[in-house]
Amino acid sequence: MPYRPARRSLPGAAFAAPAALLAACTTGDPPAEGTQTSPAPVRSGTGSRILVAYFSRPGENYYYGDRIDLEIGNTETVAGLIADRIDCDPYRIEAADPYPEDYDATVERNVTEQDTDARPIIAGDLPDLAPYDTILLGSPIWNVRAPMIMSTFTETLDFTGKTVLPFVTFAVSGLAGVDQDYAAALPEAVVGAGLAVQGEEAADAGPDIDRWLRDGDLLA
Ligand SMILES: Cc1cc2nc3c(=O)[nH]c(=O)nc-3n(C[C@H](O)[C@H](O)[C@H](O)COP(=O)(O)O)c2cc1C
Repeated sequence: MPYRPARRSLPGAAFAAPAALLAACTTGDPPAEGTQTSPAPVRSGTGSRILVAYFSRPGENYYYGDRIDLEIGNTETVAGLIADRIDCDPYRIEAADPYPEDYDATVERNVTEQDTDARPIIAGDLPDLAPYDTILLGSPIWNVRAPMIMSTFTETLDFTGKTVLPFVTFAVSGLAGVDQDYAAALPEAVVGAGLAVQGEEAADAGPDIDRWLRDGDLLA
């Protein structure tokens, strides 16, 4: 059964964009114009080399039973808060065929992708995971699991020996077993505890993110 919240008008609903977008993680300041970026990933305060890889869809979305137009997707908001706290490299997973801004059209497409066990193509270059110890893997919950493009990502890259910590944003489903799905899909990796943030509360997730990062030994 596709996940379909009721459509109601949402007068004047405002979305506060997070201060932290993923231009840079805490110490990964953007390079000055004309300089080359170093291929070496920064190390977090705890010594781990961390990639924050996430998929997020801006546009019309669920909002407390109504709809809202998000300039920045909820998962990207959480990814930005993570990047505020630790030294890491960000990677945004984008679909080569972008998802519609329209909520219902996205639900329809996702149902088709789930039903056909699709592997949506990822736009652009994929990251090399070799330099990283830890991958923070983020997505929304779509129809009670991670979007199929996350399977494209996990099946295409080599996660051997990596620690994977999942994070999701959701409306009602919580983590929805995404941690177990990744553990099954990535037997060569160690999949740790996941973080689930209600999408509407994404901008206020700092304390939960702090706890999750500490539990994962990524924050002192
Ligand atoms: C296609 C689609 C399917 C969704 N299915 C679910 C669901 O099954 N359970 C749930 O809790 N939320 C569901 N949601 C709500 C999103 O998980 C939630 O709004 C999330 O924060 C969106 O993250 P994003 O803005 O980063 O894409 C769905 C949203 C979309 C667009």
